[in-house]
Amino acid sequence: MKLKDEINKRRTFGIVSHPDAGKTTLTEKLLLFGGAIQEAGAVKSNKVKKGATSDFMEIERQRGISVATSVLAFEYKDIKINILDTPGHKDFAEDTFRTLTAVDSVIVVIDVAKGVEEQTEKLVEVCRMRNIPMIVFINKLDREGKDAFDLLDEIEQKLNLTVTPLSYPIGMGYDFKGIYNIWEQNVNLFTGDPRKDIEDTVEISDLNTPELDELIGSDSANDLREELELAQGVYPKFDQQAYKEGRLQPVFFGSALNNFGVRELLDCFISIAPAPLPKESEERTVKPTEEKFTGFVFKIHANMDPKHRDRLAFVKIVSGKFERNVPYLHVRHNKKLRFSSPNAFFAEKKEIVDVSYPGDIVGLHDTGNFKIGDTLTEGEEIHYRGIPNFSPEHFRYINNADPMKSKQLEKGIDQLMDEGVAQLFRLELNNRKIIGTVGALQYEVIQYRLEHEYGAKCTYENLNVHKACWIEPEDEKSDGFQDFKRVKAKFLAKDKRGQLVFLADSQFSLQMTQQKYKTIKFHFTSEF
Ligand code: G4P
Repeated sequence: MKLKDEINKRRTFGIVSHPDAGKTTLTEKLLLFGGAIQEAGAVKSNKVKKGATSDFMEIERQRGISVATSVLAFEYKDIKINILDTPGHKDFAEDTFRTLTAVDSVIVVIDVAKGVEEQTEKLVEVCRMRNIPMIVFINKLDREGKDAFDLLDEIEQKLNLTVTPLSYPIGMGYDFKGIYNIWEQNVNLFTGDPRKDIEDTVEISDLNTPELDELIGSDSANDLREELELAQGVYPKFDQQAYKEGRLQPVFFGSALNNFGVRELLDCFISIAPAPLPKESEERTVKPTEEKFTGFVFKIHANMDPKHRDRLAFVKIVSGKFERNVPYLHVRHNKKLRFSSPNAFFAEKKEIVDVSYPGDIVGLHDTGNFKIGDTLTEGEEIHYRGIPNFSPEHFRYINNADPMKSKQLEKGIDQLMDEGVAQLFRLELNNRKIIGTVGALQYEVIQYRLEHEYGAKCTYENLNVHKACWIEPEDEKSDGFQDFKRVKAKFLAKDKRGQLVFLADSQFSLQMTQQKYKTIKFHFTSEF
């Protein structure tokens, strides 16, 4: 098959949601459609179980699952679908942000009763900033929940999206009768039996047909007609271009647990979701159809076996063809590397592959060469953008608790930071190391892994920092900037790349500083 055909048959996407909205359940049903798994319950949830935050076994369990579910690939109607797994727990949100740099579109799952939740807001904001095409799936229609119109309103308000329903629920909870598929113009009746023949839908191209009354009863039929008419007046018509540019988000309703409304979602998804897209680099825009291979590392996973320190670097292929045993340029190190056993991922297993195409993810065995954001090419100097660090929420000093093992500690910290577990800052004043994380759970992960994988011990010391801001002065030599460096010396640090960071101890002091130094830009992500 030609490169172009291979690209056109691929869809690489992520599912995002607040924990418990039904991401795992939906993933599983999608895999069932692809025949990738045979039974429900095969996909393990990657979330950290409630109340288990201090249980190290739980962290390891979570890590184990997240290797297995990093990429779930399957074929459906001749389309190769790659689902990139995203952790739901908020302490691992950065992992999710990074994974979102490797997807071409996203499905957002929302619980019909809970509506838009905190984690959904954060994740959707990241997708919106990048104009990632999004489809919304409103889940758990078999339960009592919010009115469809109210919910669509809430999605528009809280998530700042422009929605258009492509399916519409008939009743809800106890009275849930099914969905009208606006996209395909048919009715799918809900029986509550997940084994029901999934193709069993009734064509209703004209809503005024009496057949609709027979099917769902006159009251429901009239309600549906009214609501759909209203919806047509309120919401814009679906427009694929607008969806692809992130300006319009189609909405589906269903119940993942009952495998209801999932086929409709999947069928629409494969027809509207974008195939692998061009990607910006510092040098130029790279198109997937270019003959030469390029790709970037968006995730690094340490081996679960502490005796083998090798890691798996996940590379998203952006352009050309990736081939086994062909030497590629590691741009940051300016050296050629070849990979004898690149892994491709399928629903539950990984296999060595000879060739992969844009949209695919390959897992490369790594002995410490890779960092998140690294680019591989056939020789061209390309640096892919878009994997910024975000300001951490928690900050602590890290101290060496075993002076005999300081080398091990250095190495461990270094590698864990490369993996993107947390961010390291060094205080300008005294060179002390500060670990910044998105969630408190990471400190335990780091301590545990330093000890078990590197034989090093650490302790933490609290540090009162509200936010880390990356500093960009208009003019490095200006008096203003020199004054800032002098006055704020106590609060300045460098990140791993040597960029200057201001550690503000409160929102108030941050505002005061911003007001006082108007020629300095304060960025909340490392990429600007
Ligand atoms: P997550 O990955 O987004 O965190 O959610 P997950 O799929 O694990 O689903 C969270 C809970 O919601 C699960 O119940 C799951 O069975 C339930 N659920 C998912 N989809 C639906 C649906 O369409 N209708 C209803 N009624 N429930 C749904 P749990 O009790 O937490 O877990 P389990 O013991 O059932 O696995």
